Amino acid sequence: MKFFVDTAEIDQIAELNDLGMVDGVTTNPSLILKSGRDILEVTREIAALVDGPVSAEVVALEAEAMIAEGRKLAAIANNIAVKVPLTWDGLRACKVLSGEGHMVNVTLCFSANQALLAAKAGATFISPFIGRLDDINLDGMELISDIRQIYDNYGFETQILAASIRTVNHACQSALVGADVMTAPPAVIKAMVAHPLTDKGLAAFMADWEKTGQKIL
Ligand code: G3P
Repeated sequence: MKFFVDTAEIDQIAELNDLGMVDGVTTNPSLILKSGRDILEVTREIAALVDGPVSAEVVALEAEAMIAEGRKLAAIANNIAVKVPLTWDGLRACKVLSGEGHMVNVTLCFSANQALLAAKAGATFISPFIGRLDDINLDGMELISDIRQIYDNYGFETQILAASIRTVNHACQSALVGADVMTAPPAVIKAMVAHPLTDKGLAAFMADWEKTGQKIL
């Protein structure tokens, strides 16, 4: 499974990128607000830093305006994926932009039918929002699983990008049900390393090593 980092904070992307944990980056208007940065400037920096796709979201609501914004975002770098919302206008923009050879990430997906439409419109990525479904007592993981089955049934090449990942369990479950990619905040990716038995075992090894009185270097 590919890891995208869901942030516009350059330092945090760079730290994980150095570890080989970054296959791409996703941003959205809320994350741009949080970063306090200019969208074009920060997107350019991120795209230069990482090799994989960098999603940058349009903010227009009407297809022609989305297409114009999408072309401007795509012109920033070759690895930009234009992010459009899952509306009819967004699907129209997806069809045109993907037809021009741009990567398109269709976002704010909350149903398998929406994912089916996005695949037919030529989306490179579909972004089902797991956490936000869980927030309203629906099963985000079931949605990922349904989309996986539908895409496999018909050979759609659109990649399932599990988004709104809030916990380490979301990460593991997304991998188990076959999401192609997950996008998670840096804190969730970092938390994946934690296990109390690792800490306990390491402490015991260190205590015993101390008793040997030896050194390796
Ligand atoms: O990738 C989409 C993500 O940024 C949304 O996450 O936690 O705001 O639902 P969240």
